[in-house]
Amino acid sequence: MKHLLSAGDLSRDDAIRVLDTAEELLGVAQRPIKKLPTLRGRTVVNLFFEDSTRTRISFEAAAKRLSADVINFSAKGSSASKGEGLKDTALTLQAMGADAVVVRHHHSGAPHRLAHAQWTNGAVINAGDGTHEHPTQALLDAFTMRRHLVGLPGGPGGGAGPRAAEGTDLADKHVTIVGDVLHSRVARSNALLLHTLGAHVTLVAPPTLLPVGVESWPVETSYDLDASLEKADAVMMLRVQRERMNASYFPSAREYSRRYGLDVARMNRLPEHAIVMHPGPMNRGMEINADVADSPRSVIVEQVTNGVAVRMAVLYLLVGGATEGNDA
Ligand code: NCD
Repeated sequence: MKHLLSAGDLSRDDAIRVLDTAEELLGVAQRPIKKLPTLRGRTVVNLFFEDSTRTRISFEAAAKRLSADVINFSAKGSSASKGEGLKDTALTLQAMGADAVVVRHHHSGAPHRLAHAQWTNGAVINAGDGTHEHPTQALLDAFTMRRHLVGLPGGPGGGAGPRAAEGTDLADKHVTIVGDVLHSRVARSNALLLHTLGAHVTLVAPPTLLPVGVESWPVETSYDLDASLEKADAVMMLRVQRERMNASYFPSAREYSRRYGLDVARMNRLPEHAIVMHPGPMNRGMEINADVADSPRSVIVEQVTNGVAVRMAVLYLLVGGATEGNDA
């Protein structure tokens, strides 16, 4: 695979390879010196047309831990934010010899355009495009689920210490994804990848926040959060985007929170081993109660840690893999 544009492009074997590689790389973060020489002399460009702290610094840390040179290109606010802007920027990067371009863009499809127009020879990694996809988020979520829910000594929920069994997927795990599915690239990428990994996905949202055509996704849907708690191995809460709150997708913040927010009473109805996830940034008190976010079931901080290992794995497999042996 040359690029990572969609979670749907990953076969089960591809996905498992990323997860297993990330498992190896997670150990690097625990060393006093958090660096491997793998991508020495390679250049990774972070091309962000949309604000992001978490994802950008995660990719930056990942690239640096593999000894790549990192160029952060924040293109937000640039007047040419559409096609030509992307093209010119890409040609500039090409001239600078980017081996990988990590792109976040407010337009769905921008990373595909970058890859398919061949404006760059580098590997294109989609770090979130519009409301479309966010494949590395789905990979880090799957990685986190696998560590908690699969093959750990001590059974389900045995803790995040030991490594998940290599080569395993998420067969028959139940994942409930709750909230603004309509605008969520996280939900879309997760639905695709979790399906590939054998999990059962239930999307829970008010009818107004489920996309048209969701019937063709490999998921179940429900308007009723309470009904889907008891069988869930993982519950993933989506951020309610502030800009949606006034757009009559739901009556009020309070009403949304009452019907679709994860509070302590709801959390207590989950199976004992179930984990609570959120891609961040959270609206505490809105889609997730603060006590839930800080509870021992919450793996939200761990998702951030795991994100670096997963992005290291993606960079390694797309950029480093083919050049092994040149690494004098
Ligand atoms: C997500 C995103 O930007 O798509 N966050 C992230 O990557 N850390 C989810 C969100 O913003 O709600």
